[in-house]
Amino acid sequence: MSVNQSKPENSCHILVLGMGGTIAGLAPNPEVNPSSYKAGELGIETLLAKIQVAIPGDLKLLSQQLANINSRDLGEDLLTILGNTVKTSLENPAVQGIVITHGTDTIEETGFFLSATCGKLAEKLGKRVVLTGAMLPANAPQADGLLNLLDALKWAATSPENCPGGVFAVFAGKVCLARDLAKRHTSALSAPLIDSPCSPMGLINPSWLSRLKAVEAASSRDLPIPEAQWPWVEILTSHAGARPNAIELLVNSGVQGLVLAGTGLGGFHQSWEEPLEHAQAKGIALIKTSRTGAGVIGEESALGMTAGNLSAPRARIALQLALNAAKGDKSLTWQDFFARISVLPEIR
Ligand code: SIN
Repeated sequence: MSVNQSKPENSCHILVLGMGGTIAGLAPNPEVNPSSYKAGELGIETLLAKIQVAIPGDLKLLSQQLANINSRDLGEDLLTILGNTVKTSLENPAVQGIVITHGTDTIEETGFFLSATCGKLAEKLGKRVVLTGAMLPANAPQADGLLNLLDALKWAATSPENCPGGVFAVFAGKVCLARDLAKRHTSALSAPLIDSPCSPMGLINPSWLSRLKAVEAASSRDLPIPEAQWPWVEILTSHAGARPNAIELLVNSGVQGLVLAGTGLGGFHQSWEEPLEHAQAKGIALIKTSRTGAGVIGEESALGMTAGNLSAPRARIALQLALNAAKGDKSLTWQDFFARISVLPEIR
């Protein structure tokens, strides 16, 4: 099934984009050891063929294989391709919704990236972009991927009267906003949304609407997708015995931004203070997050900008998008753009 940009007669399609992951993975010995497998082995058409009989008859599908990788190897160039494909496809009147099959390891980054760059377009058009994947390979006895894929197709096809447009994720019979995705367990079937405000499939979680409104209030525009080289941003975790050397090394190597996964409320080891002051004075963007995994971090201070409740991987994508946006729009700073996408109410 390939993508047709012209409007097919009397029908709307769900576009399924294959990125790889465990959902497309195969284990050599699935009965004995399903967790030893290779991700990204089956093509998206093969996965869709496996659920063909269960797909509602009125649902017409198109598919496109964008990649077939283990998502731990996800690169920024591929995010650019994915973002541009999603944007163009949303604008295509023949496409009613989009499903993306993706590895769970970095689905947090992709979910946040798509929400920040395509979320408002999806909302405006009343279309859903739905990320899904699996925790078990396709040939495991308890494989979860095909059911997730079927649920994602149904959620993408839900009529706009029953669900707002936007970027979502579906796993283990539950739905959440893609900007809240975060894999927080190594093996649970609901790992990618275990810690996110979600609802059972088919139901709207009331917190989503206020969260979407908060995003809308911060800005009515999606951030641009970086087209060339993305800004270089690294994550550094503070810990007992943290040394200044890693910061100095990165600063001397041309890093453009640092996301600090601090302890507790976002504090970091005192040995980092001097090199971070030096980094900030050199124009390197500093963002503070917490390595605890939940909650909002402390007040603003002179060193770095706080990321609210964003995890370090999400804050890294947010900072890259903010640095890129500020390069193209000199009337605003990267801090302005970062504030637009990072500020959201904490709802648990
Ligand atoms: C991956 O992220 O590609 C492998 C792990 C998974 O999909 O669960």
